[in-house]
Amino acid sequence: MRLEPLFPADLLHARILELAEEIDAAFGGEPVVMIGVLRGCVHFYSELARAMKTPTSMDFIQVMSYQGTESSGEVQLVKDLSGSIGDKNVLLVEDIYDTGRTLDYLMGNLQNRQPKRLEVAALLRKRERHIMDVPVQFVGFEIPDQFVVGYGLDYDGEFRNLPGIYILSL
Ligand code: IMP
Ligand code: MG
Repeated sequence: MRLEPLFPADLLHARILELAEEIDAAFGGEPVVMIGVLRGCVHFYSELARAMKTPTSMDFIQVMSYQGTESSGEVQLVKDLSGSIGDKNVLLVEDIYDTGRTLDYLMGNLQNRQPKRLEVAALLRKRERHIMDVPVQFVGFEIPDQFVVGYGLDYDGEFRNLPGIYILSL
C-alpha cells in the first residue's frame, strides 16, 4: 500500500474556515443542528463546528454502505439521531460525496422528519463517481476518482487519524 499526500492539514483548515463563513452567511445567525455522519465526519465536523459563529447543537447519525473500496450500493441505518429535527435548521456534515447513495438515503430519511431547512456540507466530492444527484450546497474540495484516506476517511477502519488527506494505492 502506498500513501501519496493530497491535502495537508493546514490547507484543510484554511478551506474549512472559508466554508464556515459561507455556512454562517447562509443561515443568517439562526440556530442550526449539525448532524455528523459517523465515523468519517469526525475531524471535519469538529473543525467546522469550532469555526462557525452560528449557534449550533450537535447530533450524529451512522449508516453503513461501504466495504473496502467498493460501495455495496445498499445503505443501512446503524445509529439514529438522539434528538428531534422537526422545524429546525439542519446541516448534514459528511466526509465525502462519492456515488451519492449515502447522502441520497440520508436526505430522504431526514426530510421525512420535516426540518425547517436541510443543507449538506461535504468536505470532498468525487464528481465522476456520482450515481445519485444530491443537492450539496457546501463542498470543500473536488477530487478525482481515486480512493483517499486520512482526516476521518478510512480504508477498512485504518488511517482515520491521519491529520491530512492522502491518495491510497493498493
Ligand atoms: P457514497 O454513498 O458512494 O457517496 O459513499 C459515501 C461513503 O463511502 C462515505 O461516507 C465514505 O465513508 C465512503 N467513501 C467513499 N469514497 C471514499 C474514499 O475515497 N475513501 C474513503 N471512504 C470513501
Ligand atoms: Mg462515511
